[in-house]
Amino acid sequence: MHPLQCVLRMQRCQRWGPLASVSWVLLRTCRAHSGLPSTACSSPERQQEDGVWKDFSSRLATGPTFQHFLRNASVPQEKPSSEVDDPPPYLTVDELSGRQRKVYLETYGCQMNVNDTEIAWSILQKSGYLRTSNLQEADVILLVTCSIREKAEQTIWNRLQQLKVLKSKRLRSRVPLKIGILGCMAERLKEEILNREKMVDILAGPDAYRDLPRLLAVAKSGQQAANVLLSLDETYADVMPVQMSPSATSAFVSIMRGCDNMCSYCIVPFTRGRERSRPVASILEEVRKLSEQGLKEVTLLGQNVNSFRDTSEVQFNNAVSTNLSRGFSSNYKTKQGGLRFAHLLDQVSRIDPEMRIRFTSPHPKDFPDEVLQLIHERDNICKQIHLPAQSGSSRVLEAMRRGYSREAYVELVHHIRESIPGVSLSSDFIAGFCGETEEDHFQTVSLLQEVQYNMGFLFAYSMRQKTRAYHRLKDDIPEEVKLRRLEELITVFREEATKANKAFVGCTQLVLVEGLSKRSATDLCGRNDGNLKVIFPDAEMEDVTNSGLRVRAQPGDYVLVKDFSLQQ
Ligand code: 5AD
Ligand code: SF4
Repeated sequence: MHPLQCVLRMQRCQRWGPLASVSWVLLRTCRAHSGLPSTACSSPERQQEDGVWKDFSSRLATGPTFQHFLRNASVPQEKPSSEVDDPPPYLTVDELSGRQRKVYLETYGCQMNVNDTEIAWSILQKSGYLRTSNLQEADVILLVTCSIREKAEQTIWNRLQQLKVLKSKRLRSRVPLKIGILGCMAERLKEEILNREKMVDILAGPDAYRDLPRLLAVAKSGQQAANVLLSLDETYADVMPVQMSPSATSAFVSIMRGCDNMCSYCIVPFTRGRERSRPVASILEEVRKLSEQGLKEVTLLGQNVNSFRDTSEVQFNNAVSTNLSRGFSSNYKTKQGGLRFAHLLDQVSRIDPEMRIRFTSPHPKDFPDEVLQLIHERDNICKQIHLPAQSGSSRVLEAMRRGYSREAYVELVHHIRESIPGVSLSSDFIAGFCGETEEDHFQTVSLLQEVQYNMGFLFAYSMRQKTRAYHRLKDDIPEEVKLRRLEELITVFREEATKANKAFVGCTQLVLVEGLSKRSATDLCGRNDGNLKVIFPDAEMEDVTNSGLRVRAQPGDYVLVKDFSLQQ
């Protein structure tokens, strides 16, 4: 047996199907009705459609009135899952059905997009679509997109060029290919995408996934369709995401959406809308189900996960004021009341003591002592905190409207390390923000050296239209300077992380096994409590829950490992 390697075997079983009922909300923005040139609506495929679709198109033309949409807009979005939704008046249930058409989903960007993909698929599956992982056999291709930096959008434009070729090959087929843009890019660019790429059939913003069956039904008739309406309360609370990988050991649970912070460089508040939290009860229900399915780790997700505030019931809305981290302020009027993140974390971590709890991505302003204390005390809440700093210069932080100085941030780091001994820290940094001097850059380098993060995500600044920085500041750092500074930050980050992570070497780590290492067939990989990737030999070991039994570790097992390497 490998020294000090033993397995704590936990039960694993299959994932569940979707539990959601798809409630239909709003809206059509078909070009035929939008005042945009109607020629853009027709396509050669349309002529191939049968009488049913001709009939559908004529009903669409004499479709619902504006009053109809206003009436529906005030209907509460969450309904008991048993309640059957009325189809839009110009579409029959049959027309809304996917009729076993095959959907290929492709995800770009952050973990929120991974979770959104699962939500979109849950809704489509309920509506009679099938899933395929083979692009060639897809009837519908949906790209879940990201707008955070220019490069992320360029990737999608390039991908659309490839898909165009695929689509033109399929023009004369019985079931023509439909292409959809979902998520942040749909929200940011809206009909600019439809105008620029005529081959795109549907657009759905991050709050419009419930509308996907209707958008695809409209697209089937040969018209482009879009819903980019942002919502104040959509959290998809009743939609159980369907995970892609049935053998996965961990899952993401979305607990809040949107962002009110308005950091001056960031497009997220414009693409994902206002901050809103999902009711605690629905989160607990989802985590309980995941635990029953045998999952061993959940990551609570949100743009500002620790700003969580469930105000769904009147009794939660007391006048208790919000405790921010010391020395931090927010860009918006202080909110009051509601069930806060500490409450949620407490409840979630009690569901299954063998289930690891992580959360991402937090804002440093929302780490009151209650949260830190809980992370310290509760064994299954991972001692790992992502603490996006963005810059080490107080001057740049002010221009970014982050609501803290370098000093307040460093004090928070010390306070976190005192409160949670052995905590792993990670961060995000932006190189070359508007007006950043060499001295400002040096301040960021010195913050990396001072904190010694275990993990980091570093980016060159990418100017985004609509943001405060776009309107008020000058993107005045030349591209080559941004890239040089980024390289310097990456080098320093790596040196410091290597030093910080040496602390783990020689210590026994509790690792949740994910599977075989991609680098070697004789090694396994998993993650330690600090979320670092740990590679260790796939050897026989003692099963401590079954004394005397020697086993090989499987995905979903916890293993105590002493001899390992870390992958950074
Ligand atoms: N340019 C570069 N990086 C950005 N981020 C957000 N907006 C921009 C931008 N315009 C980075 C921040 C954030 C992470 C998710 O992306 O570091 O924390
Ligand atoms: Fe963007 Fe700032 Fe909101 Fe994060 S906190 S999503 S960086 S605006």
